[in-house]
Amino acid sequence: MDQVIDFINVNRDRYVEELKQYLAIPSISALPQHAADVRRAAEWTGDALRAGGMTDVRLIETPGNPVVYGEWLGAPGKPTILFYGHYDVQPVDPLDLWTTPPFEASVRDGEIYARGAADDKGQVFMHIKAVEAYMQKAGALPLNMKFFIEGEEEVGSVHLDEFVRAHKQQLAADVVVISDSPMFDRGVPSICYGLRGLVYFQLDVRGTKTDLHSGSFGGAVANPAFVLAQVLAQMKDRGGRVKIPGFYDDVRPLSEAERAEWRKLPFNETRYRKELGAPRLFGEKGYSTLERVWARPTFEVNGLLSGFTGEGAKTVLPAVAMAKVSMRLVPDQHPDRIAQLFEAYVKKVCPPTVELKVTRMHGGKPWMTEFDNKYVRAAGRAIQQGFGQTPVFNREGGSIPVVSTFQEELGLPSVLFGVGLPDENAHAPNEKLDLGNFHNGIIASAYLYREIADA
Ligand code: BES
Ligand code: ZN
Repeated sequence: MDQVIDFINVNRDRYVEELKQYLAIPSISALPQHAADVRRAAEWTGDALRAGGMTDVRLIETPGNPVVYGEWLGAPGKPTILFYGHYDVQPVDPLDLWTTPPFEASVRDGEIYARGAADDKGQVFMHIKAVEAYMQKAGALPLNMKFFIEGEEEVGSVHLDEFVRAHKQQLAADVVVISDSPMFDRGVPSICYGLRGLVYFQLDVRGTKTDLHSGSFGGAVANPAFVLAQVLAQMKDRGGRVKIPGFYDDVRPLSEAERAEWRKLPFNETRYRKELGAPRLFGEKGYSTLERVWARPTFEVNGLLSGFTGEGAKTVLPAVAMAKVSMRLVPDQHPDRIAQLFEAYVKKVCPPTVELKVTRMHGGKPWMTEFDNKYVRAAGRAIQQGFGQTPVFNREGGSIPVVSTFQEELGLPSVLFGVGLPDENAHAPNEKLDLGNFHNGIIASAYLYREIADA
């Protein structure tokens, strides 16, 4: 083990240089013009796995982007980890807010800046390097490992449920390991035991067949921008509660015990607010900030588009208005049921003065696990060894759609051990990963395999 850790320490700078190459590939799954880059990232991932000593490495086609698979099964009788991550990234707009270009990784103050640095290439690479260190120094891993790295996570993993069902045998394992989430805070490593789910919609409202002079026609027809604003305004009350009938029916109430645990976490609300640059925090009445983000569902507007938004003034009635909206879900809400409730409600509250088109997009189920299992305890010890600190247990507000599928289809628990940070700027300009956490993460991953092997 000492040799493995020494190897990781000696190779620290090389890892960063290699990661820069990975981060240079603009594998944006949401944008069709990047399809070739997405494939290149898949191939790069496969090459890295091969170089790390994994066997049977290959790209497996799906109706969308390929899955990268690689395994090492040389430890019969020992447990098998199914490692899951993603090589695709989010779009980079608004580009002008990036200090350095998103696909030319740049290191400043001990952090590496690039799209995908934290979410998720940096964290995937961390495990590939931990494996490589074992293979170089010990010629073997202490357990069996299967890498399963997909290219459609950022667009909702739409082909993955089917893929998992069709490859049950190949993906069979004892535990899933995922590093695709932030830690609780700088210096406070964590293990995440819950994620929210998601349903996403696009709403298109049409008022007239073309834009109109607002003097000649204003007052005679409904304005779609205004109607859309009125429709959206009916989704939540002023106390932050979602008004869709039935929305809360299946929400699992937060236990007093869990609330008490969360109150003990080192969370500084004022600092949080200031870092976000918000004049005030806002959320559902009766819940703390952590409770709102981790254990309560929300309705959000992701984007709005209508009418004249250029410089100056133009007197016009827009013909159309569009909104992208989404709901984060918590156990035991089901995306399909919430989608039905939302669709029925939005159609009911939208007046007949406009045409409304409702399009459902991607989503995912919420997930939560009992964290008192031997693998989670093993992860706790590994994090202690890698970071010199005992991890806290947290839930997260984000979603990883396939996690609940691993549970339901393969019967596997997941251990979410992330090394990002709350200020990592995932999905935003200037995404970054702390290189100290990246390095400690490689060491902790190496310990994790050994701890799980003996668990
Ligand atoms: N890494 C995130 C998931 C995440 C975010 C976990 C924050 C914990 C905290 C992942 O890459 C992601 O962004 N997922 C999407 C899923 C969606 C497209 C279905 C998300 O949460 O928006
Ligand atoms: Zn993401």
